[in-house]
Amino acid sequence: MKIARTIAEMKTLRRSLTGSVGFVPTMGYLHEGHLSLVKQARAENKTTVVSIFVNPTQFGPTEDYATYPRDPEHDLALLEKEKTDIAFIPSTDEMYPKGFNSWVEVKGITDRLEGACRPGHFKGVTTVVAKLFYIVEPTRAYFGQKDAQQALVIKKMVADLNMNLEIVVLPTVREKDGLAMSSRNTYLNPEERRAATILFKALLLARERWHQGETNAKSLRQEMISLIEKEPLAKIDYVSIADTETLEELSIIDRPALASLAVRIGKTRLIDNIKLE
Ligand code: PAJ
Repeated sequence: MKIARTIAEMKTLRRSLTGSVGFVPTMGYLHEGHLSLVKQARAENKTTVVSIFVNPTQFGPTEDYATYPRDPEHDLALLEKEKTDIAFIPSTDEMYPKGFNSWVEVKGITDRLEGACRPGHFKGVTTVVAKLFYIVEPTRAYFGQKDAQQALVIKKMVADLNMNLEIVVLPTVREKDGLAMSSRNTYLNPEERRAATILFKALLLARERWHQGETNAKSLRQEMISLIEKEPLAKIDYVSIADTETLEELSIIDRPALASLAVRIGKTRLIDNIKLE
């Protein structure tokens, strides 16, 4: 595996490549969720590139940028094991030099859900992902359904700006008890870890009630909220049943829907979602 630590090194490596390039952008502290994207990228492309960059511009001023878990040596060992061809680990100073002042912003769907709770978050995500796409020039880029809204926003950016690559979205990888894998799970103490299973339980409840024929989205949301409120360590940011494409809240589930939620377990904010389709 080659390691590019500067943009120039990455661009030089890119110029030497022929054939398709699969790209997996990450913020590191890799787990099986990330690795499922790497495996698929490897299966579908001649060369696999994985970036590790904790992007400061997508964190709000009161969020966890400083404490976001980091373990680059372990990440590199995992990527090596997955037979990644190139790991790209740029520095913050080079990605955001003094005077940096150009932004990529998708309007509309970024106002809802995560965007409503985390103002400016998606502007940071689209800006860094656009930069990474310009540097790596992938044929395909791989994203997780775990961050469903992020995947939609990236697809919209790529379509609107005529970017020349394919976006592939892959299923959420879960722990045995259903908790969606996340680098932030490491913040949870054992009691919080148990409580965190409430997110997936609420999503399963939504899916089960919907399978039973419940199409009233308001009642479904209320049932999910009531369940989560039984968990004393949980505090709801939002519970949503929305159109899978536009993310507009539904009153009647009469089309493919996304049940999604953001819940704080102690100080840790977790998100998850499931499709109703
Ligand atoms: P990060 O949270 O490190 O996630 C990198 C990729 O892994 C994202 O596409 C995310 O959806 C996917 N992923 C995370 N957990 C997953 C799981 N349990 N199952 C499947 N896929 C999972 O998302 C980001 O980084 C950043 O916003 C980034 C796109 C890198 C821009 O900075």
